[in-house]
Amino acid sequence: MSDPPRATAPHARRARLHRVDARDERQFDPWYAVLHASEIDADGESTRVWYPDEWRARAIDENAATYQQLYSWGESIEHPVAIGSLAITRDDNRDSTTAILFVAPDQRRRGHGTSMRRALEDQARLLRRPTISFSVTESAREMGRGVSRIVGPRWGYTLDEENVRRDIDWPRPAGELDGLASQWQPAAAAYEIRSWRGPTPDALADDRARLASIMSAEAPHGEIGPRRERWDAARLREYERTIDEMGRDLLTAVAVHRPTGHLVGFSDLTVSRDHPEVAYQWDTLVVAPHRGHRLGGLMKIATMRLLERGGDATSTITTFNLATNQPMIALNDALGARVTGCSLSWVARLAHGRSPLAV
Ligand SMILES: CC(C)(COP(=O)(O)OP(=O)(O)OC[C@H]1O[C@@H](n2cnc3c(N)ncnc32)[C@H](O)[C@@H]1OP(=O)(O)O)[C@@H](O)C(=O)NCCC(=O)NCCS
Repeated sequence: MSDPPRATAPHARRARLHRVDARDERQFDPWYAVLHASEIDADGESTRVWYPDEWRARAIDENAATYQQLYSWGESIEHPVAIGSLAITRDDNRDSTTAILFVAPDQRRRGHGTSMRRALEDQARLLRRPTISFSVTESAREMGRGVSRIVGPRWGYTLDEENVRRDIDWPRPAGELDGLASQWQPAAAAYEIRSWRGPTPDALADDRARLASIMSAEAPHGEIGPRRERWDAARLREYERTIDEMGRDLLTAVAVHRPTGHLVGFSDLTVSRDHPEVAYQWDTLVVAPHRGHRLGGLMKIATMRLLERGGDATSTITTFNLATNQPMIALNDALGARVTGCSLSWVARLAHGRSPLAV
């Protein structure tokens, strides 16, 4: 599949790709402004997926296990008409990159999106990452109707994953978590749930890293979903440090199998210290042989207890699940979740030429 030739506006011809240095406000602030304007355009509110410090923390350390290369598109780096990023992994999945692409809302339908997409694909080729996937979220009001559903297929991309966003109002009504916990505990008699805020205790770090390495392979995912990752205690510490630099606290619960003493599951919740209104549920995993014991729910309750104890001014807990992950959806529904949007992943394998081959 190739892109049809199109008439290009004269100003678009002078536009080019710029690599954005997140340490330089003159470059980063205009980049972030386009992202934020796009989020407001989609949502109608000024909700942010990642705050500026969170982007910076993930973009500056090029030696991190995953870091973000930021790009803008326009005549000058100070006045981008489109922005994007490529996630670069160091240790695993080095044949693929996850990207974002946003055109400033008042600059759309002028060919900038197509031009920047091609430029990002060229970058991915240069980086020897022949598989590229663009992530995009849809707010409740545009769910199922986002523009990427038109543009993605036109560009030769395939919808690989659809994750549904659910929000849980916080705090929960008095007694609700106690009720659920006592309902679920009998199934989990062989397990101990432990939880903490901040770094993983040293004695559990190796085991927690082992679980992280199988997370992306064991959790349901799309056709080209992430494969097994390489984690050890050092990478776990690096991950914890990055989260701290992002201005977030990490609240973790694990399930310990009493007979063997092994960790068989974990659940992470994060909350921003400066913007605690929305806390995010990140990964939750119970390894296959230990499923069916209500461990996912009990670990989530344990992280919620940490949030309660911390006194964070949180009003919403947000979680994303693959649309087909029924066990996790049922669990979130029991915890009071309601659907508020979705996130999509559009994937293509890049040919050596200019346009992607659909997968
Ligand atoms: C998707 C997005 C990047 C497109 O940028 P853009 O500059 O408007 O796109 P272009 O002008 O290059 O148009 C690309 C194609 O999509 C079509 N298109 C773009 N917006 C459209 C819309 N709202 N309705 C119908 N078709 C549309 C164009 O007509 C064009 O088709 P053609 O090549 O057959 O003529 C932009 O709308 C955006 O930032 N959306 C929010 C984030 C997002 O969805 N990112 C993309 C993830 S894959």
